[in-house]
Amino acid sequence: MGWFSLLSLLFFLLPFSSFQTSSNVSSSSIIHHPSPLCHPYERSALIQFKNSFSVNNTIASDPYGCDGIDPPTISWAKNDASNCCAWRGVTCDEKAGHVIGLDLSCARLQGAFHSNSTLFFLRNLQSLYLSYNDFGGSTIPSEFGKFTNLEHLILSNSNFSGNVPPEISYLSKLVTLDLSLNNFHKLNVDTFTLKRIVTNLTNLEALSMDLVDMSSVSPVVLMNLSSSLINLTLSYCSLGGNLPADYIFHLPKLEMLFLGENENLTGSLFPKSNRNTSSPLKELDLFETKLSIDFPYLIQNFKYSLEYLYLGSCKILGWNPTLLANLTQISVLDLSSNNFGGEIPWSSLMHLERLISLDLSDNNFTGQLPEISSYNSTQLSFSYDNSSNSLTSGGPLPLELGVLDLSDNLLDGKIPGWLYSLKSLDYLDLSSNQFTGYIEEFQSHSLVRLNLSNNKLHGSLPSSIFQQVNLTFLDLSSNSLSGDVGINDFSKLKRLIYLSISKNQLGGKMPSSICDLNSLQYLDLSNNSLIGTVHPCLGNFSVNLLVLNLHINKLHGTIPLIFAKGNSLRNLNLNGNQLGGILPQSLVRCKKMEILDVGNNKMNDTFPYWLESLPMLQVLILRSNRFHGSIDVSPKTALPFQTLRIMDLSNNEFSGNLPTKYFKNLLAMMDAYSDQLTYMGEDQYYESTIVVIKGFLLEMERIQTMFTTIDLSKNNFVGEIPKLIGKLKSLKGLNFSHNKLTGPIPSTLENLSNLEWLDLSWNELVGEIPQQLTNMISLEVLNVSKNRLVGPIPSGKQFNTFDNTSYSENMGLCGFPLSKICGNNEAPQSPTTKFEEEGGYGFDWKIILVGYGCGIVIGVSLGYIVLSNEKFTLFLIKIGFSNLLYA
Ligand SMILES: *[C@@H]1O[C@H](CO)[C@@H](O)[C@H](O)[C@H]1NC(C)=O
Ligand SMILES: *[C@@H]1O[C@H](CO)[C@@H](O)[C@H](O)[C@H]1NC(C)=O
Ligand SMILES: *[C@@H]1O[C@H](CO)[C@@H](O)[C@H](O)[C@H]1NC(C)=O
Ligand SMILES: *[C@@H]1O[C@H](CO)[C@@H](O)[C@H](O)[C@H]1NC(C)=O
Ligand SMILES: *[C@@H]1O[C@H](CO)[C@@H](O)[C@H](O)[C@H]1NC(C)=O
Ligand SMILES: *[C@@H]1O[C@H](CO)[C@@H](O)[C@H](O)[C@H]1NC(C)=O
Ligand SMILES: *[C@@H]1O[C@H](CO)[C@@H](O)[C@H](O)[C@H]1NC(C)=O
Ligand SMILES: *[C@@H]1O[C@H](CO)[C@@H](O)[C@H](O)[C@H]1NC(C)=O
Ligand SMILES: *[C@@H]1O[C@H](CO)[C@@H](O)[C@H](O)[C@H]1NC(C)=O
Repeated sequence: MGWFSLLSLLFFLLPFSSFQTSSNVSSSSIIHHPSPLCHPYERSALIQFKNSFSVNNTIASDPYGCDGIDPPTISWAKNDASNCCAWRGVTCDEKAGHVIGLDLSCARLQGAFHSNSTLFFLRNLQSLYLSYNDFGGSTIPSEFGKFTNLEHLILSNSNFSGNVPPEISYLSKLVTLDLSLNNFHKLNVDTFTLKRIVTNLTNLEALSMDLVDMSSVSPVVLMNLSSSLINLTLSYCSLGGNLPADYIFHLPKLEMLFLGENENLTGSLFPKSNRNTSSPLKELDLFETKLSIDFPYLIQNFKYSLEYLYLGSCKILGWNPTLLANLTQISVLDLSSNNFGGEIPWSSLMHLERLISLDLSDNNFTGQLPEISSYNSTQLSFSYDNSSNSLTSGGPLPLELGVLDLSDNLLDGKIPGWLYSLKSLDYLDLSSNQFTGYIEEFQSHSLVRLNLSNNKLHGSLPSSIFQQVNLTFLDLSSNSLSGDVGINDFSKLKRLIYLSISKNQLGGKMPSSICDLNSLQYLDLSNNSLIGTVHPCLGNFSVNLLVLNLHINKLHGTIPLIFAKGNSLRNLNLNGNQLGGILPQSLVRCKKMEILDVGNNKMNDTFPYWLESLPMLQVLILRSNRFHGSIDVSPKTALPFQTLRIMDLSNNEFSGNLPTKYFKNLLAMMDAYSDQLTYMGEDQYYESTIVVIKGFLLEMERIQTMFTTIDLSKNNFVGEIPKLIGKLKSLKGLNFSHNKLTGPIPSTLENLSNLEWLDLSWNELVGEIPQQLTNMISLEVLNVSKNRLVGPIPSGKQFNTFDNTSYSENMGLCGFPLSKICGNNEAPQSPTTKFEEEGGYGFDWKIILVGYGCGIVIGVSLGYIVLSNEKFTLFLIKIGFSNLLYA
């Protein structure tokens, strides 16, 4: 998606830019000169300032921040007599010896920033860098307004919150003001303050407020921005309303404008008049705004200056792909998610000699990628070495291309040879198209991310993939790949974090070289035909592994996994193999485990009651194995299974009473609306599992955390249904069918107002169906057939929608929908359809499918939230990068 191309910027530009954020008056230039002696009160102010915080090395340990940079304060002498002008991060005025520059970015200071801070004694400061610290959500003290000489104030990424103080407007000499990245919307600014700031700061060249909450700001205040402005970045600010874009584009020096992810920002970006703008705009990001962008106007005015253009998910008017050829300086181009159709405009793109990143994902582009030979050699002259008659370049795309994202389009045909020959390619995403043919060998040896999933590719895994030492992400899932995985040597892929080859036809044994992948967090080999045993190394794998998914393969033997203490495993899915034996007890060490699915195997064990202590276990699936014995045990821990939401023990040989003592404690199933509708899993990997909904097996790609079910069907449970089942208020599905349960249906079931399906069929239940059950207002499917129920069927509400299959084979039931009229004991029971197995709901079938259909729609729209989080993460990386360039 869109942001990936931004991510790529990092790969390209970081080597050329300094990681360290330091001002142009930083100490580094001073070290070689004799330092002036610092004033004792300033030295003591610095020491006291430093001492008012602790230094916490876990802060800002992200690779784009401060990794490998020692906090500058470490070198600060404790000796009072030492010259503070020589300290790292401190700069003094040559003559008077006053501290004029302080660069404490990456100092990893942690603690509250008080308004009485001794920092405010340093009245001569001209530049102050405090990014990458953790001021614990302190408000920005209004005392900052006293630094009247300040030219550069960088408070980004330092965990400030609250209102931006209006006193910032006193800093009329400011050239750079950066308040960005102080957590999402924790910092906010109002129209009054922002207006004062932009009006009074007449020297301002760079204003950065990404992630600052501006939901109350009228964008009209931006009309007051100083004409000195060069960079303006206001992404993710919730800035809404009509932007005076016309004005902004006439700022004569504007080079960089980031307004992305302000979804309510409207207005027309370009004037209808013929006025040409004069700004030398280089970088423009309008990602997911509602500004109307006049595309020909944009090209006309900025064709010689634009280097970075992010117009993903925008309102582009006058789209004309041939105009792209005019963007002669462009290096990063993102036109994702714009519903563009037709062929990819190769003849324009191939003129963009500086292009290093191209993102056309999530459009409606069709057709095949061109083969080089089908191209007119005159058109290819710049990139295609005719004389040597060999392919030295990418052909329809420049040779230097590093990032190519064509995912989520309608492209088909083969992946052409020129694409494999792009030597600098480090990010390739062709997922979710209809590409066919084999995957050929990559000539690039610097692939970092490769996603070819969800196509129609076949053949075996190309060997060049296993030479990609920098590969972190490899997804080849959902294709028709075949061959023996076991022959591949994964051991060079030391940086691999994500590996999925699921949903193919790959066979062979699990290669032991996978055990060498120490960075791996996600391993998904599911839905293939892998044979042999589960490799024991996977248990004692690195502490990094979060997801291990081997479901639906042909693995046999026992589960030889011995889980190490402190492991991170969140999802273990072995469903649908031929695994026997017992569950490894070391699973109790998987304290982060959320999903444990060993269903559809040949496990022969008693109930793993010891799993009750796992504090995060949400899904436990033991379905269709040979688990046996009683599960009606007394919990050993205070809060057994406290987070469990899906408990599927069906089709085993469990016996004894229902686990009343556990029911009493299933806290996560009691609190109906405690959770927002979210999905389990994280950005990269959505937990999926097979669940039984309303009698249908289906694979949920994403598990809604509100989805709660208990399925104990097809066992040998005896005894009564406990009354306290009514406490599990958030249950959506309850299945006790095919057991030997006796006694009445408890009327407490009426409390299960979220229950959508209830199956008590094939038991020995007696008595009447409690009239109170009509209070189960969400109930869509009811099955109490094949019991010994008597008396009138409740009427009203949901009960008017069930047909007679819900009640068949109960000798004593009467009333609607049965033809047996109540009060007449002699009336013969009407013949009803023979109820067979679960799933045979006859009449209700249609309703169920319609209901589920709606579910899919909801799922998709919520899925989007997950998606934007992913974008959000990448956005942070992007901004982190742009901040570094302020240095
Ligand atoms: C360091 O900061 C992290 C993140 O804020 C926190 O979880 C941790 O407890 C801190 N460590 C110390 C020693 O204060
Ligand atoms: C600064 O203010 C904080 C909180 O108001 C207080 O705890 C601290 O003692 C004060 N420090 C000094 C040096 O006055
Ligand atoms: C503007 O800056 C000047 C200093 O140059 C200051 O005296 C004045 O109070 C500021 N005005 C506002 C509205 O902040
Ligand atoms: C955009 O406006 C809608 C409707 O007023 C609101 O629900 C939504 O939160 C706004 N989005 C942002 C990012 O502020
Ligand atoms: C794009 O370039 C072509 C050829 O150089 C030129 O004819 C055309 O006017 C340009 N269009 C714009 C909008 O700049
Ligand atoms: C995208 O393609 C699909 C399938 O061909 C079509 O139904 C849809 O209307 C297209 N959307 C646009 C905006 O062209
Ligand atoms: C190649 O391009 C030239 C000039 O645009 C054109 O005259 C010629 O017909 C083209 N050749 C082919 C094979 O398309
Ligand atoms: C792998 O990445 C490192 C930088 O992280 C780079 O120096 C090295 O050249 C890369 N190796 C290959 C084969 O691309
Ligand atoms: C504006 O942003 C660019 C790109 O990030 C950077 O190189 C330049 O130094 C910035 N200019 C100012 C005045 O901060």
